[in-house]
Amino acid sequence: MSASTKEYKRVTIKSLSEMKANGERIAMLTAYDYTMAKIVDSSGIDVILVGDSASNVMAGHETTLPLTLDQMIYHASSVIRAVDRALVVVDLPFGSYQGNSKSALNAAIRIMKESGGHAVKMEGGSEIKDSIKRILSAGIPVMGHLGLTPQSIYKFGTYTVRAKEEEEAKKLKEDAKLLEELGCFALVLEKIPAKLAAEVAADLSIPVIGIGAGGGVDGQVLVTHDMLGMTYEFNPRFLRRYLDLYTEMTNAFNQYIDDVKSGDFPNKKEQY
Ligand code: KIV
Repeated sequence: MSASTKEYKRVTIKSLSEMKANGERIAMLTAYDYTMAKIVDSSGIDVILVGDSASNVMAGHETTLPLTLDQMIYHASSVIRAVDRALVVVDLPFGSYQGNSKSALNAAIRIMKESGGHAVKMEGGSEIKDSIKRILSAGIPVMGHLGLTPQSIYKFGTYTVRAKEEEEAKKLKEDAKLLEELGCFALVLEKIPAKLAAEVAADLSIPVIGIGAGGGVDGQVLVTHDMLGMTYEFNPRFLRRYLDLYTEMTNAFNQYIDDVKSGDFPNKKEQY
């Protein structure tokens, strides 16, 4: 399919569906705060994910599990204040939708009402079907997430590639189809074999966005702090670093410290 690029003043779930139909790849990045979201949105990104990776990146937790609904709403409302063009998708945090579809709906409503986000993302397939259905029935768009689902890290035990074995690949394909049938508008596939991800993308009419899922899908997502090279200790094969901000920032901080200690900063022009 040859790609054509249409100008979108505002990206909606309809725009994403058109992009898939036109063979235009979808570019998605994370943001958790106003300043980063402003830069990411001005760059022309299609989708901003207020990911629960904020738990690792912003709060320094080992997993995404500790993040609360109130914290997600805080991050999402900061992002929303910055964004003019991108579709903003907000992760429903661990514990807010797995047990009971009524509390799942309440959590999704709080996100939409209190942050102004445009859609929610949920990890899992058939196990969370009732929650997805109930949220969709309230008119809230849902993005699915299959493959490596970090909220289930203690079930998996490791962050290695998922669905390499036939049984897990079969379940992933069935779940992907189910999510489309339920009415999810898009699906994230994380850290699965490229061949399997391409098969799922070809089988579904909704956009499939990959992270560590190869190039045969309809779009890509990365954690912004990783692709900027700020989180230098995280080095998965799928990560392309576009900057080495860790080094750049360290150099800038070192220079500032030297300038303060030596009395070079502030100079005559930098004072009143
Ligand atoms: O929370 C997150 O950043 C995510 C992406 C890795 C897809 O879910």
